[in-house]
Amino acid sequence: MNALKTLNPYFWKHRMLLFWGVLFIIASNFFHIFKVQFVGDSVDQLTENTTLGFNKKVLMNVGIIVASSLLTGFFTFMMRQTIIVASRKIEYELKNKIYNHYQELSLTDYKKTTIGDLMNRLSEDVVAVRMYLGPGIMYVANLLVLLTVTGIYMLKTDTSMTLWSLLPLPILSFMIYKVSSVINKKSKIMQKSQSAISTFVQDSFSGIRVVKFFAKEKYIEKNYGIKVNDYQQKALDLARTEAYFFTIILFVVGMLNVTILYIGGQKYIKGELSVGKIADFFMYINILIFPFSMVGWVTSVNQRAAASMSRINEFLDKKSEITNTNHNIYPIKGDIEFRNVSYTYPNTGIKALNNLSFSVKAGESLAIMGKTGSGKSTVALLLCRLIDPTEGEILVDGKNLKEHNLENYRKHIGYIPQESYLFSDTIENNIGFALEKPDLAKVTEYAKKADVHKNIVEFKNQYQTMVGERGVMLSGGQKQRICIARALIKDPEILIFDDSLSALDTETEENILQNIEKDLKTSTSIIITHRESSAKRADKIIDLTELQVSHTS
Ligand SMILES: Nc1ncnc2c1ncn2[C@@H]1O[C@H](COP(=O)(O)OP(=O)(O)OP(=O)(O)O)[C@@H](O)[C@H]1O
Ligand SMILES: [Mg+2]
Repeated sequence: MNALKTLNPYFWKHRMLLFWGVLFIIASNFFHIFKVQFVGDSVDQLTENTTLGFNKKVLMNVGIIVASSLLTGFFTFMMRQTIIVASRKIEYELKNKIYNHYQELSLTDYKKTTIGDLMNRLSEDVVAVRMYLGPGIMYVANLLVLLTVTGIYMLKTDTSMTLWSLLPLPILSFMIYKVSSVINKKSKIMQKSQSAISTFVQDSFSGIRVVKFFAKEKYIEKNYGIKVNDYQQKALDLARTEAYFFTIILFVVGMLNVTILYIGGQKYIKGELSVGKIADFFMYINILIFPFSMVGWVTSVNQRAAASMSRINEFLDKKSEITNTNHNIYPIKGDIEFRNVSYTYPNTGIKALNNLSFSVKAGESLAIMGKTGSGKSTVALLLCRLIDPTEGEILVDGKNLKEHNLENYRKHIGYIPQESYLFSDTIENNIGFALEKPDLAKVTEYAKKADVHKNIVEFKNQYQTMVGERGVMLSGGQKQRICIARALIKDPEILIFDDSLSALDTETEENILQNIEKDLKTSTSIIITHRESSAKRADKIIDLTELQVSHTS
């Protein structure tokens, strides 16, 4: 339960809402129980006074009962408006915190966690914690208040009846707790099966082209059938356990009613208790049954919340491997030097770069060639400081890259990744991603430079064309050129092309290179390429194959 302590600052932040919430709980319960005695009293009035006609006392009782019911309703509404609202606010803050932390982590951290994992933290885990925050607190406070107030009323009526009727209730809580724990376990199993279906569906939709030209529809269908069947089994299993939940409650209600009837009946025969008081007991017990059951349920919810919270904490405590210590804003010239840089990927142990040294002056261009897997993209990642070298150092303008203001530095680099990634957004927003505010004229200017304007104007919606989840409507070359425009629009001091002209024919490549000649002159450019012809334009060429790559594992 320790993990849940990290939520205390959140409680403190919303203390006013929670304070009012508890007051409303007390008020709603008070009126809920307050009315009961008037029901019993009316029963007694009517049994004693059997003559037909107007009974002033009973009428007044009815008035009080109606008014208390209305007040109970009002305060219950207010209780939800405060406590549930507070829990939703905390949920919102927690989700933002988790999401922001994800944004801060470095590239190698991402490799260690999956998208599914992130989605789980954001949805399932936070929801489990919210259940603790909202219903958890509400029901426990509810029970405490109800038990105290009802207990006093009951004891005032009859001591032995009170004991007999309260005794089985903790047992009820315990039984509900046990059933809820099993329900939790089974619903987790069911959720897993459900997410297996979603992953499968997502995968087969994204890869629908591959599925079709391999003519594997039947195979996919069969696999889907198996997964859905599995889900059905688990859902049914869960439903069977859930059926116990209300069965137990109803069973205990039944047993208690019989007990009250039996003991109450004997007391009535002896003349110790009136019919009205027995009626009161029935009502008290029925009021208490639900909160006692809920406490059993809440206990298991809290256990789950604690487990979720410790998973969330474990994640939030993870420090990014790439940290920024410098916060000054200054211009970047673009001198680059690699000094004996080696890099080993921590997750695989593959040494992608071994003792690499080179330097490029501001405004110069460098072509990096080399076989596939020789570490070219790794150089690009290092230059963007998405990863830090394992050995050696990278100097930019004569200063170690680690000592630069990371955010400021990244504003000055234009990076066109090897795999064109576009957001599910309009072409304009994709190209203008780096801009502070939309500027169609500028977007068009750079689209022309990247030689993609002529393709864009052919689309019906032109620059407002939506790019699908992975830019499905665009050809590989079109995507590449949009990515080039997106990088150039920043007017960067350092430009990195990671094989970014590979999907283009030589003529288009030539067009682009001519269009951006001026940009290339004013910035340091690193051109990763497999083509001899592109490399020859650069001031310097290094070949990573000759520098060799070795594998340590
Ligand atoms: N994220 C990663 N985690 C672990 N190993 C990686 C990762 N990225 C690359 N590697 C490994 O590092 C080595 C160099 O990869 P890199 O992507 O830099 O090659 P490349 O020269 O860009 O190849 P290509 O020409 O195919 O793009 C390869 O052996 C690769 O398997
Ligand atoms: Mg590469």
